[in-house]
Order: sequence, then C-alpha cells, then structure tokens
Amino acid sequence: MHSLDMDADYRWLAEAPSPCFAVDETALQSNLEVLQEVQRRGGCRIILALKGFAMFSVFPLLRRGLAGTTASSLHEARLGREEFGGEVHLYAPAYHDEEFDDLLRLADHISFNSLNQWRHFRDRAAAPERPVRCGLRINPEHSEVKTALYDPCAPCSRLGITAEQLRGADLEGISGLHFHTLCELNADSLERTLAVVERNFEEALRQVQWVNFGGGHHITRPDYDLDLLCRLVKEFRERHEVEVILEPGEAVALNTGVLTATVLDIVMAHYSMVKTNTFNGVPLPSLAVRRLDGRLEVVRRFGYEDYRNRLS
Ligand SMILES: Cc1ncc(COP(=O)(O)O)c(C=O)c1O
Repeated sequence: MHSLDMDADYRWLAEAPSPCFAVDETALQSNLEVLQEVQRRGGCRIILALKGFAMFSVFPLLRRGLAGTTASSLHEARLGREEFGGEVHLYAPAYHDEEFDDLLRLADHISFNSLNQWRHFRDRAAAPERPVRCGLRINPEHSEVKTALYDPCAPCSRLGITAEQLRGADLEGISGLHFHTLCELNADSLERTLAVVERNFEEALRQVQWVNFGGGHHITRPDYDLDLLCRLVKEFRERHEVEVILEPGEAVALNTGVLTATVLDIVMAHYSMVKTNTFNGVPLPSLAVRRLDGRLEVVRRFGYEDYRNRLS
C-alpha cells in the first residue's frame, strides 16, 4: 500500500509553499481501493464525512469510489452537492428553521438528533420538492471510545435518542436509523456496538430500510480487520433486510497528506479572533464593534464563500 509515513520520501514537498496542506493522490487512491473492497464485499455504501476531509480539488478522484458525502451543516451540504455529487446525507444535533428549506433542497437523507427535532420538522420534511429520506440518530449507550470528551455515548450525552426514549414513538415517515459511536476504532468495537443496537432497538430495526453505522471506523489503517467488517456489514444487512451506509472521514484521508510549516519563532500569542476556523462548515463568527456612542456595528460577516475559499 502506498501511504505517507515517517520514513517516506518527502522530496516532492520541496516545491510546496509553507505553511501548506499537501495531499498525495496516489496515497488517496490506495485508501479508496480499500474502501471500494469493503463496499463490494459487505454490500454497503460508503460516503465521505466532510467534517473530516473537504478538499474539493480531489473530489473527482474520490467520487470514482465513494457514493457521496455526509454533511453536518448547510455549508457542508452545499459543498457536497455542488462539488462532489452523488448522495448527500445530513446529520446535525439541531437544524435552524430558516435553513431547513435549503437543506431539503440539498440533502437526500436527513437524520434527526431527537424526537423533538423530528416532530418539529416532520411536516416540512414530508412535502419537499424532491424526496428526502428521514432518519433518527440513536444512542446505543454503549461506550467504545475511552476518552469521555470524544465519546458520544458518555453519560449525559445529548447525541441521539436512547432506546428508552424511542420506545413507543410513532416512526411513520422515518426510513432509517443512524448511530455514530466510534472514533479511530477497529471492527471489534463495531461488533460489540451492533450487538447492543440489535438487542435494544429491535422493534425500530424491523421498521426501517437503511441503517447508517456512522464514522470512526479506521478502515484504512494497516491493522484494521477488514474481514470482520465485511462480515458484520453483510450479515447485518441480510438479517435485517436493510441498506447499510458507513460515513468515515478520517479513514478516507488517513496517511495521505501532511501539513508543512516553518518555525519562525518560539514565542506563541493566542487571541481567539485571529485563529477561528470553519470546522464542520460552521460559519465564522461575525465581527462587531460597540461604538463610543453605544451603537453596535457589525463590521464583518462571513458566509459560504469564506468557507469555500479556504479549500481548493
Ligand atoms: C455523525 C458523524 N459521522 C461521521 C463522522 C466521521 O468520523 P471519522 O472521521 O472519525 O470517521 C463524525 C465525526 O465526528 C460524526 O460526528
């Protein structure tokens, strides 16, 4: 497999400006081949989580092997629709009322984080210009991630609907379930998670046509158990007669690029306004000044172009 590592030859970076994110398409292609093998053997679809990797100048390459993208905001959904093509999936902890019609125009699948969110938007989701498949994010309350900060199933997590909350809920209009519980983990973690999902969400599984296993599958890592993943996906799909979708971010771009930098000085000063970012496609905060006369003046707003122009 061609991938970047500490022993790799970095001479090709000599021409790169500094600082610079430099991505190697050959390494990306190797990862893509692994992901294509999983789709073929498991019978699932794999989509790219844009929150992990959104370099649209390599989307034509990735599009050859992936079914589409998954977004966590309006900006990411638009980037996926306009620059990648294929399916656009969407999950965010909550949706803005004023953005929802735009999201309906962009997305093929929308997953809701809570029954409240689903009830709030279900009528609008049922009557879009184009069909959208709606899903619910479930929280299996089974932790595989050791660091609580990154564990969506940590106690008091508000990510996803628990089995208890889902019991007896009206699922009319819901065609799928979504869970995201892993982070940089191997297939044994997925195996234990699936066992809990099957045990605790048995009734809901009987009513849906698709299940999204989320991200956090470190599929392209050399020690990843591909055989186990393919078997788990295939057996789950056959047992429940559902489509299975995986949405990794990191595994798509793992070991394919570097950030080059030059140390200019060793003194660091940090102020939050100068180092904001657009992670998840979230817009940058606007800049405002309260003038001497008490007036608040918004001196700068940021939009989609600012997000897109930072990528290539
Ligand atoms: C809902 C969801 N899907 C997919 C991903 C992608 O995860 P990863 O890049 O670890 O594969 C994330 C990451 O946080 C996520 O929150």
